[in-house]
Amino acid sequence: MITNTELEYKGNLYPNNILECKREGDKLSFTTENGVILEITVLRDSVLRFRYATENIFEPDFSYAISEDASTGYNELEVEETPTEFLIITAKLKILVDKQTLRTQISDLEGNIINEDELGFHWEENYEYGGNTVKMSKITQSSESFYGLGDKATHSNLKGKRVTNWAMDQYAFAKDQDPLYKAIPFYVGLHNNKAYGVFFDNSFGTTFDFAHERRNITSFWADGGEMNYYFFYGPKITNVVKAYTDLTGKPELPPLWVLGFHQSKWSYFPESRVMEIANKFRDLKIPCDAIYLDIDYMEGFRCFTWNKNYFPEPKKMVKELSDKGFKTVAIIDPGIKVDKDYWVYQEGMENDYFCKRGDGPYMRGKVWPGECNFPDFTNPDVREWWAGLYKELIADIGIKGVWNDMNEPAVMEVPTKTFPLDVRHDYDGNPCSHRKAHNVYGTQMARATYEGVKKFTYPKRPFVITRSAFSGAQRYTSTWTGDNVATWEHLWIANVQVQRMCMSGMSFVGSDIGGFAEQPNGELFARWIQMGVFHPFCRVHSSGDHGDQEPWSFDNEVTDIVRKFIELRYQLLPYLYTMYWKYCKEGTPMIQSLVYFDQEDHQTHFRTDEFIFGEQILVCPVQEPNAQGRRMYIPKGKWYNFWTDEMVLGGKEKWVVADIDKVPLFIKEGALIPKYPVQQYVGELVVKELILDVYFKKGIEDSTVYEDGQDGFDYKKGRYSVRNFKLRGKDDQLIIQQFKDGTFITSYDTIKLKFHGLPFQIKSIQVDNETVSFEDVKLNGSNSIVLSKEFTVLELTGI
Ligand code: GLC
Repeated sequence: MITNTELEYKGNLYPNNILECKREGDKLSFTTENGVILEITVLRDSVLRFRYATENIFEPDFSYAISEDASTGYNELEVEETPTEFLIITAKLKILVDKQTLRTQISDLEGNIINEDELGFHWEENYEYGGNTVKMSKITQSSESFYGLGDKATHSNLKGKRVTNWAMDQYAFAKDQDPLYKAIPFYVGLHNNKAYGVFFDNSFGTTFDFAHERRNITSFWADGGEMNYYFFYGPKITNVVKAYTDLTGKPELPPLWVLGFHQSKWSYFPESRVMEIANKFRDLKIPCDAIYLDIDYMEGFRCFTWNKNYFPEPKKMVKELSDKGFKTVAIIDPGIKVDKDYWVYQEGMENDYFCKRGDGPYMRGKVWPGECNFPDFTNPDVREWWAGLYKELIADIGIKGVWNDMNEPAVMEVPTKTFPLDVRHDYDGNPCSHRKAHNVYGTQMARATYEGVKKFTYPKRPFVITRSAFSGAQRYTSTWTGDNVATWEHLWIANVQVQRMCMSGMSFVGSDIGGFAEQPNGELFARWIQMGVFHPFCRVHSSGDHGDQEPWSFDNEVTDIVRKFIELRYQLLPYLYTMYWKYCKEGTPMIQSLVYFDQEDHQTHFRTDEFIFGEQILVCPVQEPNAQGRRMYIPKGKWYNFWTDEMVLGGKEKWVVADIDKVPLFIKEGALIPKYPVQQYVGELVVKELILDVYFKKGIEDSTVYEDGQDGFDYKKGRYSVRNFKLRGKDDQLIIQQFKDGTFITSYDTIKLKFHGLPFQIKSIQVDNETVSFEDVKLNGSNSIVLSKEFTVLELTGI
């Protein structure tokens, strides 16, 4: 065995032998002779925190990522000592700590190694900035795969890759380009059907190497701060992702309209153009809930101002839009124009809210308005001020959502594209340089925005979207994948990025549909819409320096296809809302990559294209021109082709027909898929009947429908409606039981069940144990029946 002293080369330093082990409640600390302390905290039976200090000193314990609501509490914690190691035992895991090297090894209770240090913790002193570059290296287990890490535009399985987290404005980024806009230092490892996760809670620039530099080694390091990581044990990926999301926080429910379709462009102006776009949606009967105002609504790109030539009466326009069912979303960037006659600049200066350089002068950088100062969003007073700035936009003018952009933070005309590293930040009372605050800057801006929007939108729910994000941002905001390009390759990238973000705890995400830069043709736009309606956030946005990118900008065929798919999204709103509710409640990702859906099936480990929308709908976007269909992998189980009701057996690749007006779409057998009628915007219609598409299964399957007032906070007082359905099918019988929870009274009185794949002809129908006539339930041969929403058991018997 190599000892750490032999490894003290190339400036790397290593812990040596343990002198002392102490336990205080859920914390164990091991101190080495050379002043390294390893503190292991048992947060839950399968969630551990590893934190290392050098020189016997820990930094103040502060993190922007960890949620105050994170669950804690474990069942068991024992510590044993042998001549060579300490052994920590929880109800799920065993952790060995080597007495000579401080290296750790984590196994399950059966003794299967889940994760193990190679060199373990080591560090290099940083003469220039002080502190250390902190490093961790681990052994890559046989056939190990890696997932997660936010918005990386690369293969979903990160094995063999090295990626860096340093938030960057990357206009028209390319496949494999790195870093991008987000910094989410969380990954999932999977080997031998066991999954675990690592969240490196360090906001400095971080790098992860997944067997890229050395074939059997996985390592990660940061340019400063502490080696401070959380370990989550599965064994299912779902346990890992949920535990990470629980730790870094879950969002609140958005208003339902936010799950509708959004139309954006840089920029719609003047007012007459905005109204023209809105009217066209209604004329063509293409559902749409939100319309965006990009930077040109402002006066000289000054945030919180209006260009009165383009928008003489913003309040009136927003009201007119609202009367037509449109919610207006406005952009706000971090750069505040240096202009002594501009009130936001004046307030920022008077209160000393702008970032300063290491030696004292203000940080200045060019963005859209020219020379700007930038609020220090890591200062709580600045956040409060910023939140207050939204009063006029929201409370007075009636803007319903805010779009925060350029918050990596982006600076133009400089090679680094961002702040100089010596810029100072408050970091909530832990003053530091931009090296430490850079990656959290965007999230703290979005957080301040969220506080403001929430306050002034109350009693309705807020909506915020951000471009940059760090772990935990999902508590405050949705996000999109930034400035992509109108190419087929970018359709692939968007698909991978959205799945990866969902795996990384931040589900409320979508791409600029059709591409931001350059012009898509009608076919690409149609194919992108067919994918985009199955992403949690669904918005068309484009840079506007080329042709138009509205649903009607191509030909009639494309317009009809786009309408058809947006209509499908509106029909699926109760399904989508239920997905969101599960995300808020359990941390369940809204979209599941195939490996998440079925990790036991090795075929899924390297799949990129197919994904599960919610828990029961399989989607596989068409990502090539001139396609009449595509080959795809159908995961194990039985699935119904959505378009034909044909049943397919999964566990194999299959050619699936999908002409330009279709996308490969399958429903899991046994599912009950809830639908509303098509509406032009959320709330246009009072829903009179809930439709449930019932996909027969021989066996059992559970489905859920969550509903509430669609906005406001009454749901927190129990005013919600949850319908849990249990389907049991046999050769000649189908039973559906309904279990209800919550006090919300839904607007409809009846539920229409439409049966797909029933293997028998219905002979008799029993509702709540009483036989009913076919007429009473409107069975007219079309395999659908109408019941009171209160039914508890439906039993169909066949011939
Ligand atoms: C950035 C954003 C883009 C926006 C543009 C103008 O490039 O990513 O979405 O339209 O700025 O505000």
